[in-house]
Amino acid sequence: NNFALIMAGGVGSRFWPVSRTSFPKQFLDILGTGKSLIQTTFDRFKKIIPVENIYILTNENYRSLVKEHLPFLQDHQIICEPVMRNTAPCIAYGTAKIRKINPGASIVVAPSDHLILETDVFVETINKALAASKQNDCLITLGIKPSRPDTGYGYIQFSDELLGEDHELHKVKTFTEKPSIEIAETFLASGDFLWNSGIFVWSVNAITTAFDKFLPDMNEIFRDGEPYYNTDKEKEYIQTGFQKCVNISIDYGIMEKANNVYVMPADFGWSDLGTWASVYELSEKDYVGNAVINKEKVMMYNSSNCLVNVPSDKMVILEGLHDYIVVESNDTLLICPRSNEQHVKQIVADVKQNF
Ligand code: GDD
Ligand code: MG
Repeated sequence: NNFALIMAGGVGSRFWPVSRTSFPKQFLDILGTGKSLIQTTFDRFKKIIPVENIYILTNENYRSLVKEHLPFLQDHQIICEPVMRNTAPCIAYGTAKIRKINPGASIVVAPSDHLILETDVFVETINKALAASKQNDCLITLGIKPSRPDTGYGYIQFSDELLGEDHELHKVKTFTEKPSIEIAETFLASGDFLWNSGIFVWSVNAITTAFDKFLPDMNEIFRDGEPYYNTDKEKEYIQTGFQKCVNISIDYGIMEKANNVYVMPADFGWSDLGTWASVYELSEKDYVGNAVINKEKVMMYNSSNCLVNVPSDKMVILEGLHDYIVVESNDTLLICPRSNEQHVKQIVADVKQNF
């Protein structure tokens, strides 16, 4: 009675121009492995959870992309949202549907766009967390040892207090989603903080109780929808119900507020592949530090420490280029020093305004 909810409805603007609103990061093979991130995520979960219990939470706009990437899924395993409302509503909806099938189930909620290098450790960690979720009424998150004061993550302050016999679940003192840079620096220096990986494990009961407490109106919408799930009327009900939900992430909506949150420190080679810089760091590089995602038609002369990701049908020649990102999608080419990468979000905004 274990289920997985894989969230795949985000847009991800930092990988522009390769990642687009119409083609977000989870559908890309960002490291050139031959599989998209959502496919790799699904493969990982297959080792833990029966395939028929794995659901994808996504936006209606991405239904056909999900089908294309995971063609063996049955229609009801792709749960679609009519509008974007961030992660809390999609989790409330997915949970309500699982609750109807099996109120005694445990659920893993996970992003679809992360890299995990050590699958075996991942499988072991999730299995432990699932076991713990059945014995305790708590919300479990997997925590990653932080390596820099990144403001794009949730920070978890953990205590030495452990949950029962299970020595790996630490009581969470505070959960701070996306702090300012000053606060993130303090957290990092103090040493008793972990990053929230965004991978959560809980029983249907524990998460339902949390929604009732912190987002009661939202939970009511999906509870009231129960008679319609898996009937012809579901879509119609959700169409209006979803619009009424507040736009909020699970992190701000529940994790920051609940007092039964526990963290399991996890070390399985995790990266959320948040930026081109992180892709560069993780990619295989040649002896002068060039990382080329599609190798077929790229020639490099006197160039070093560059990341090149262009469609494989195009020939690319670099001469005398150092420390640059060269990335291209069908209609857009971006050439930018690796150190200026934080400007990409602004560039995307400007492009949207002007073209
Ligand atoms: N179905 C659905 N609907 N999925 C969504 C939606 C939505 O409206 N919005 C985002 N997602 C998906 C994204 O595709 C991604 O897989 C996952 O949910 C997390 O959303 P992000 O938008 O990537 O969140 P974040 O990276 O800013 O922050 C979260 O992840 C960090 C770790 O990478 C938080 O949980 C942080 O606390 C955490 O540190
Ligand atoms: Mg993310």
